[in-house]
Amino acid sequence: MLKNRTSLTHKVRYAVSNPARIAPYLKRTARDSWLRVKHPNHVDYYRAVMASDTSRNPEAAVGSQTHDRWLALGKMQFDYLSEHGLAPGHRMLDIGCGNLRAGWRFIDYLDSGHYYGIDISPDILISAKQTLTTYGLQDKLPHLTIAQNLTLDFLPDHHFDVVHAHSVFSHSPLSVIDECFAHVGRVLAPGGFFDFTFDRTEGTEHQVLREDFYYRTETLIALAEKHGLRGRFMDDWETRKHGQSKIRVDQPT
Ligand SMILES: C[S@@+](CC[C@H](N)C(=O)[O-])C[C@H]1O[C@@H](n2cnc3c(N)ncnc32)[C@H](O)[C@@H]1O
Repeated sequence: MLKNRTSLTHKVRYAVSNPARIAPYLKRTARDSWLRVKHPNHVDYYRAVMASDTSRNPEAAVGSQTHDRWLALGKMQFDYLSEHGLAPGHRMLDIGCGNLRAGWRFIDYLDSGHYYGIDISPDILISAKQTLTTYGLQDKLPHLTIAQNLTLDFLPDHHFDVVHAHSVFSHSPLSVIDECFAHVGRVLAPGGFFDFTFDRTEGTEHQVLREDFYYRTETLIALAEKHGLRGRFMDDWETRKHGQSKIRVDQPT
């Protein structure tokens, strides 16, 4: 939690203990540098990263190197949320739904039409539709929509009981998170909550290749507070086998 992945010492140490990862890292650095030149706006850049990653392997593009891990990561999200307040009658907004790694389980569990997934990547949404078909969930009529930003302006007021963003802010600069916090309160139903994961550091906040962003818990809780939201660190998520941490945000009554 203290390590700064941008420091030279960390890079050298990592390279020495993981020699096989040097070549893929250099390849990724070259690709990302080119994509950053082509797309100065972060969302456009990250959409291009997703297009490139999804064309190779959609499950790896959402962070799972094997199908078993894809299944396990989806189950972990579903189990946690269903143990922490999700009910079948809830309306859920899944920000950065990816290819429905967890989404298909939420869709299966929720009443028809109650799942709304948004993502910036058309490529991963095409893969999401394939997941939906694989699991035979057509009758559940989920919404799967492309988004360019997180103003959520096309969604109704006070509609969603649960808003969820798993492994999305770990790929987002603070300006994107700020935009989300500025607007999520409007779409949350009374008593609703917003759960998100993030890459946590207890040291200096930093980013790697503008793909992975590391924040301190206090930064995100203070940012939520600036928008009238109350955040709390979900301690019991830390026991699950996942590298990220989780915060729940709601509106004080
Ligand atoms: C690591 S994947 C996780 C996908 C899904 N939440 C899951 O856990 O399987 C991150 C997803 O967030 C999407 N994403 C990244 N930035 C976003 C943003 N600002 N708004 C919406 N989606 C975003 C990416 O396109 C990608 O599909």
